[in-house]
Amino acid sequence: MQQNRPPLPPEIARRRTFAIIAHPDAGKTTLTEKFLLFGGAIQMAGQVRAKGEARRTKSDFIKMEQDRGISVSASAMSFDFREYRFNLVDTPGHSDFSEDTYRTLTAVDAAVMVIDGAKGVESQTRKLFEVCRLRDLPILTFCNKMDREARDTFEIIDEIQENLAIDVSPASWPIGSGRDFLGCYDILNDRLELMDRADRNRVAETISINGLDDPKLEQHIPAEALSRLREELEMARELLPALDRDSLLNGSMTPIWFGSAINSFGVKELMDGIAKFGPEPQPQPTAAREVFPDEDAVTGVVFKVQANMDPKHRDRVAFVRLASGHFTRGMKLNHVRSKKAMTISSPVLFLAADRELAEEAWAGDIIGIPNHGQLRIGDALTEGEALRFTGIPSFAPELLQGVRAGDPLKAKHLEKALLQFAEEGAAKVFKPMIGSGYIVGVVGPLQFDVLASRIEQEYSLPVRFEPSQFSSARWVQGPKAEMDKFMAVNKGHIAQDSDGDTVFLTRLQWDIDRITRDYPELKLTATKEMM
Ligand code: G4P
Repeated sequence: MQQNRPPLPPEIARRRTFAIIAHPDAGKTTLTEKFLLFGGAIQMAGQVRAKGEARRTKSDFIKMEQDRGISVSASAMSFDFREYRFNLVDTPGHSDFSEDTYRTLTAVDAAVMVIDGAKGVESQTRKLFEVCRLRDLPILTFCNKMDREARDTFEIIDEIQENLAIDVSPASWPIGSGRDFLGCYDILNDRLELMDRADRNRVAETISINGLDDPKLEQHIPAEALSRLREELEMARELLPALDRDSLLNGSMTPIWFGSAINSFGVKELMDGIAKFGPEPQPQPTAAREVFPDEDAVTGVVFKVQANMDPKHRDRVAFVRLASGHFTRGMKLNHVRSKKAMTISSPVLFLAADRELAEEAWAGDIIGIPNHGQLRIGDALTEGEALRFTGIPSFAPELLQGVRAGDPLKAKHLEKALLQFAEEGAAKVFKPMIGSGYIVGVVGPLQFDVLASRIEQEYSLPVRFEPSQFSSARWVQGPKAEMDKFMAVNKGHIAQDSDGDTVFLTRLQWDIDRITRDYPELKLTATKEMM
């Protein structure tokens, strides 16, 4: 962290770069939309979905996403809230795309965890939380759908504490639930927030309260609900920790707000919480040193590549998290991997569903750089220094299939398409040492369908996936002599990934154990770092 360093310059300190994590259906889209609404990025609720749909019709890949009701593409949105600049990085919700999610979470400084008040901590919430935990990412919690019948407040908090092993500090407290839900007591500011059920886009009425004995409470809350609120708040104060910013920032405590995204209720309080307590842009790790956001030189790292966002142009956009400096359009940056200079002439910022040219950006911001394939996940852009950012993982696929072009004459085209998807991070592509064809590896089964559909749409290539004799892949590294010996004996199991690294393919864990035993100098790994 940034101990003993001078405060960040205001332009950087005002940035909040975060993602929302949630189990599908908890309300992530609705909350995103309300963020954009209050951030002034859209005028009317409903636009995110409406625009999303307009865009979706352009591509069948995205059409599939729509048909299946899952979100497979992530993007970044920037908007201002009060004096803050929020950068919200969208994470795909479906578990099949967890690798993408992992990488996205390396690009943010905090996460907002949305849970459904009736369902509590669900499976996907827990998985995503674990990813955040790996990096001690600060987490702010929003308990949504309080306008419906919800669980008891203490029960929800207990569940989070026990299931996720994190301290929970209530930032607000719900009054009533379901049909009788009136609003919340804002614990941080001693205010009463009353929900307006009549107008979903209207922000709640706020009444300043002078402690729990303030007679004003009686004017707004029926006697029974009020005595319950007083009782619960007293218990909460006794049993639950008060919000402590350091504990939030080191990932050991999460503040929780209760609300109803669809009713715009509790959302502004949450946004205020992100602004006030959320982290400023954090130092980013590289192999040699940490990069601090207030360093003068511009540096950034590609954490996602999205191809064919506009099918007419066949473009690719590399999403770059700026780690330091003040970027201006037209800047010449060093592409560390190829050692070539790149002039960044048309960087884009994503404002709601629109793209806009980014004239400037600061550490913490996410910019999109259109390119023709030079930029890959893990690549660094700097003003000269040969940095290698660390921590962006690549996982061994858990499912493998062979792939063939429907038309054998199009094999070369297929190769090109596959390599592009590999660079984008959408799949792992392995070329076996023996035989023709490719083996494609993914983390979740839906990715095969997405790939087949994209190859067909974007390259007009019908393809066939077929069962592979292998089900696991491990990267292999070691001294050359030992590698040569190992490869000569295991030819039928060896392939190269799209970076030219050696991979061992097998169906049996037993095989992996055997290699580890027989070749003690070799290292078999299920992850490798992208660079
Ligand atoms: P997701 O992105 O996390 O998957 O969730 P999304 O926002 O799409 O919300 C899932 C469903 O929950 C939607 O209903 C949405 O309207 C509803 N919802 C979101 N926030 C609240 C809330 O505060 N209270 C209540 N009662 N419902 C909420 P749907 O019927 O699936 O879609 P739609 O027809 O409303 O668009």
